[in-house]
Amino acid sequence: MTRPTDGNQHTAAIDDPLSGGPADVPISNAAAAESSRVRRTISPAQLRQTFENDVMRAGRGVRRALATAVREAVRAGRLALIRAGVSHGLRILSRVLAGRGARNVAVESYGLHTYSGLLAAAGLKTLLPPLDTHGTDPVPPDGTDAVLLTPAHQFPVGTALRRDRRMAVVDWAGRTGGLVLEDDYDGEFRFDRQRVGALQGLAPDCVAYLGTASNTLAPGLRLAWMALPPTLAAETVAAKEPIDSCEVVSQLTMAEFITSGAYSRHLRAARRRYRDRRDSLVTALAQHAPEVRVIGTAAGLHTVLGLPPGKEQQVLQSATRQGLKVAGLSLYRNEPSLNVMADALVVGYGVPSDDAWPQALSALVRALS
Ligand SMILES: Cc1ncc(COP(=O)(O)O)c(C=O)c1O
Repeated sequence: MTRPTDGNQHTAAIDDPLSGGPADVPISNAAAAESSRVRRTISPAQLRQTFENDVMRAGRGVRRALATAVREAVRAGRLALIRAGVSHGLRILSRVLAGRGARNVAVESYGLHTYSGLLAAAGLKTLLPPLDTHGTDPVPPDGTDAVLLTPAHQFPVGTALRRDRRMAVVDWAGRTGGLVLEDDYDGEFRFDRQRVGALQGLAPDCVAYLGTASNTLAPGLRLAWMALPPTLAAETVAAKEPIDSCEVVSQLTMAEFITSGAYSRHLRAARRRYRDRRDSLVTALAQHAPEVRVIGTAAGLHTVLGLPPGKEQQVLQSATRQGLKVAGLSLYRNEPSLNVMADALVVGYGVPSDDAWPQALSALVRALS
């Protein structure tokens, strides 16, 4: 299995059952239906402005719509830029950080390798604070200028950053002038526990919040948003290169999708569907593979299956024979990791269609038994 080369590869192709990631919703139909009504809530003047100006700064209607949709903790007034994915936002912010003289960014010791690549491309070095079952160590090593976290649902391990650690990391940022980059890639899909607020809501002056439609709708849309500390906003707009833009029609369609209430309805239905899948997966494994520990099930579209020691490669091969594309947890270890976690599989349940899901689940059970 190859390492992912971009932020979506772990979510993989649509015909890869059980490879984690995007929602299998008929977004194209929904979006098409909604786009026919764009003019109803976005005035002709706003439309003109959106098409004529730099999309990332203009599109006030889009920004307002998104502000109503993203998690309440995100300060709506600070919702600054629309961009083409978390990865796009990180690329821009890496340039801003490098331009300010930053050298080191702490990233979680397990995560997407793409991120280290994006940071390195801007000349930034990555440091790896330790990660445990309560999330990443909140006080990054000396010399850290920024820290990149998935606090609501650690990717891939699936834990939420514990409350004292959330406080500690924003305290660190406030004390040192450091920046927290908050990757909220699947915050909309929370099943069992109370909502975990965004770090950005705790400390809007030192947290850059990155949200995305890649999991709520589809990664191919390349539609995402970020809320920035006011002191970073102008530099961030300036760091965007002229060709570095996001397509306008999708933004307007998304704005209408949100303001019409259809996006909220879609999220509610998707949450139910994924919770049901998660439940069926947990039940099937408890019955047929009780030695497997199911971890990180409270949120998101993927789960981690803890395996007996030394079993990861064997189970991966067996999954491949069953026609499944799943990843081993070790794939996401950012070398040199300070701690090595036990053998485990990272299993996404967002991709298969409703029809394909029972078969995919049976194949997973066979691979594990
Ligand atoms: C950890 C993580 N961050 C971000 C994203 C989304 O990235 P993008 O918005 O670039 O598609 C994903 C993919 O779903 C992810 O797994």
